[in-house]
Amino acid sequence: MTVDRAPIPFVDLAALLRPSRAEYVAAFERALDTGGFVGGPAVAEFEAAFARFCGAPHAIAVRTGTDALVLALRALGVGPGDEVITAANSFFATAEAISHAGATPVLADVDDATLLLDAGDAARRVTPRTRCLIPVHLFGQIADMAAIRTLAAAHRLHVVEDAAQAHGATRSVDGATWRAGAIADVAAFSFYPTKNLGALGEGGAVTTRDAAVAEAVRRLRDHGQAGRHDHVDIGHNARLDALQCAWLSISLARLDAGNAARRRLAAHYRARLGELRGVRLVAEPAGSAPVYHLMVIRVDAARRDAIRDRLAADGIATAIHYPRPIHLQRAYAHLGQGPGSCPVAERAADEMISLPMYPDLTAEQVDRVVDALAAALG
Ligand SMILES: Cc1ncc(COP(=O)(O)O)c(C=O)c1O
Repeated sequence: MTVDRAPIPFVDLAALLRPSRAEYVAAFERALDTGGFVGGPAVAEFEAAFARFCGAPHAIAVRTGTDALVLALRALGVGPGDEVITAANSFFATAEAISHAGATPVLADVDDATLLLDAGDAARRVTPRTRCLIPVHLFGQIADMAAIRTLAAAHRLHVVEDAAQAHGATRSVDGATWRAGAIADVAAFSFYPTKNLGALGEGGAVTTRDAAVAEAVRRLRDHGQAGRHDHVDIGHNARLDALQCAWLSISLARLDAGNAARRRLAAHYRARLGELRGVRLVAEPAGSAPVYHLMVIRVDAARRDAIRDRLAADGIATAIHYPRPIHLQRAYAHLGQGPGSCPVAERAADEMISLPMYPDLTAEQVDRVVDALAAALG
C-alpha cells in the first residue's frame, strides 16, 4: 500500500469552494446582467437567511468583522470615556474595534482550560467607567455566557459577542441552547475567507434581537442616513457588496455540513491526541457544541518551535493563534497592562499550536498529523 505524503496545508480554500463553483459563477453572471452591486435583494436575502441561521431576529451585513464590532458598539452608544472589557487572547481586531468606537479596551485574562474570557478576572477589572463586555467565542467555542450575563447584570453592562470564529456553535446557557449570535443583545461576525462561513473576499455581519440597535447599525453602515440625504449620525461606508452577499447565501447552505465535518475531525483528533504525553487539549465546556474554527493544542513552551519545525519538515503546516496577547502588542503599550497582567493568556501564547482543520481534511490526514506530532514529541 502506498502512503500519501502530499503536504497538508493549514487550510484548503480551493477544495472547499470547488463543489459550489458553478453557483458562484452563476451569481456573478447574474450581477453582471442586472448591474446590482450595492444593496438590493441579494443583501436582504442573505441577511434574512443568516438571521434565521443564528436564531436572531435581525442580521445586518457589513464590510468586515471589525466594522461589525465597531458598529455594534456605536449602536449601543459605547464611545469616548467608556471602558470595554475583552479577552487578552483574541485577534487584535477585537480591541482595535473598541478603540475605533472611541472607547478604551481593557484586556482580561482567559480561563486556563477553555482559553475563553475568564468572567472572574473580568469582574476584577470593572470600574465606574466600564460600559460593555466583549466575550470572544475563540476557536469556534462559545464563552461562558451564563457567568458573563450575571456579571453584566450586576453592573448594568452591555454584552457584545465576538462570534467571528463561531458561526453555528451552540452552548446551553441558563437552561436553553443558543447559537452564537443570539445569546447576548448584539453579536459581530466576520466572513473573512478562512472563517467557517467565508466570503470570497471581506465580509461581516451584526446580529441582534434589538430592533433599535438593528436600525442604528443599518444607519451607521450607510453614512448615518435615516433616509436619502438625511444624515442623522456621522456614520461609515460599511456596506457589504451585493455579490459577497449572493456568494455568502450559497456558502451558508453548506455551513452545517462543514461544521459537522469539523466536529467529526475534531473528535478524531481529540481521541488520538489524548494518547500522547505532552499535549494538552482545549477543554470543551459541558453543554457546548463547538464548531472548531481552529484545532488548538498546547505543548511545552520550550519545545513549541522545534515541534512546529519538525511538522513543517514532514509537510504539515501549522500556525499560532495568537503568539502575543493583545495587551502586550506595541500599539497598546499606552494602556500600561504590561507582562504579568494576564498570566494565563501569556503562558498559553507560548504553548499553543493550531493544527490543520478544515471540512475537506481526511481522517487519514489527521492520523498523519498526530503521528508526526508523536514523533516530534519523542
Ligand atoms: C476573534 C476575531 N474578531 C474579529 C475579527 C475581525 O474580523 P475581520 O477580519 O473580518 O475584520 C476576527 C477575524 O479576523 C477574529 O478572528
